[in-house]
Amino acid sequence: MKISEFASRRKKLFSAMKDNSVAILATNKHPVRNNDAEYPFRTDSSFYYLTGLDEPDSIAVFSKKGKKTEFTVFCRPRNPDQEIWTGRRLGTEGVVSKLKANKAYKIDEFVGKLPELLVGSVELYLSLGRDCESNRRVMMTLSKLKQRARSGTQTPQRIHDLDQIVNEMRLIKSPAEQNVMRKAAKIAAKGHIAAMQACKPGMKEFEVQAPLEQVFRENGCECAYTSIVGGGENACILHYVENKARLNNNELLLIDAGAELDYYASDITRTFPTNGKFNAAQKEIYELVLRAQLAAIRNAKPGKRWDAPHKAAVRVLTEGLVALKLLKGKVADLIKNEEYRRFYMHNTGHWLGMDVHDVGNYKPDGKWRVFKPGMVLTVEPGLYIPAKSKGVPKRYWDIGVRIEDDVLITRTGNEILSKDVPKSVAEIEALMAQ
Ligand code: GLY
Ligand code: MN
Ligand code: MN
Repeated sequence: MKISEFASRRKKLFSAMKDNSVAILATNKHPVRNNDAEYPFRTDSSFYYLTGLDEPDSIAVFSKKGKKTEFTVFCRPRNPDQEIWTGRRLGTEGVVSKLKANKAYKIDEFVGKLPELLVGSVELYLSLGRDCESNRRVMMTLSKLKQRARSGTQTPQRIHDLDQIVNEMRLIKSPAEQNVMRKAAKIAAKGHIAAMQACKPGMKEFEVQAPLEQVFRENGCECAYTSIVGGGENACILHYVENKARLNNNELLLIDAGAELDYYASDITRTFPTNGKFNAAQKEIYELVLRAQLAAIRNAKPGKRWDAPHKAAVRVLTEGLVALKLLKGKVADLIKNEEYRRFYMHNTGHWLGMDVHDVGNYKPDGKWRVFKPGMVLTVEPGLYIPAKSKGVPKRYWDIGVRIEDDVLITRTGNEILSKDVPKSVAEIEALMAQ
């Protein structure tokens, strides 16, 4: 992402902030796995979106006094000894020269500088709902400053949720963001194709995961989330991540995996037979989910509301489940009473962006959001039929199917970013037969 993109985001943020205001945003902590071992650090998406800084122990301050705006960063200082152990740092100089901060200080100076950052502002923006050290420090400093009110000290009178502004901005992807997301989905698609080509009955789930993730890595990506690679009964566990069971002949394999490129996620699911050929029962369920997915995608376009794809998917799935005699009754009643939830217990999608479950209010002012160009969502209906499901013929047991694509809303309709992965029965079988 070009450095000018970050500057234009800050400009938008400043113009949305009230006069005489200050906004304070910290990044994530580096999470500990156990004792001295850490999970890989992934910076907070909104923090990165506004700053371009990918380092732990960083705080950004945005202040606006009249027309004058200031972008200040607190970060880890350069330290050659430490950097030998924990990697390179930009340091305060780098944050000014490379990221175009107006001012930069060492992170240890944050608490000492807080009073002067807050005094004189009437409005304060924080990312609310986060139990973070910087928010706690701000509240402590505010209460101390209020004790100085008699001496005429002006302190913020109102606290606003910074996320309300930033999440709205992140919901609409700029052309540059759309390009990155298109690339991320293309790379993820290549990974899914590699997995389909590698899969053979008798392999372990992780043996199919490996070539998929190798393609991500080779193309400069990380996993956007822990890959779900579940065969047979494991396909019926929505967030199965153990990925170590044996893949049997005549089973379906569900892979839900996405590549993250330059901080933007993709999120793709495909389900295919381990032996490359759908049996009759698998095909019936698979094609029903596919019809539901296509109906949902047709409803993801400008002017439609957020719930339109889900409603379309639920209608097709319920009609199909009745036709297959897996549900009994009138379609309208089954939908009203949510009987389909026995086999379809999740929603049809979510916003997608820097976070796989991206930010963005789904129901502003009590009404489902209307789709607009630049929004990106997933469309991911499924059906899950565990063994011994009551009243369900055995031929359907242990069939779990989800089909998930990444969909960009365009001016005239939508673009399926993940369209490169085969999706129809014929396409999948043809690829796996090669
Ligand atoms: N991979 C998580 C999801 O599809 O929402
Ligand atoms: Mn997914
Ligand atoms: Mn998803």
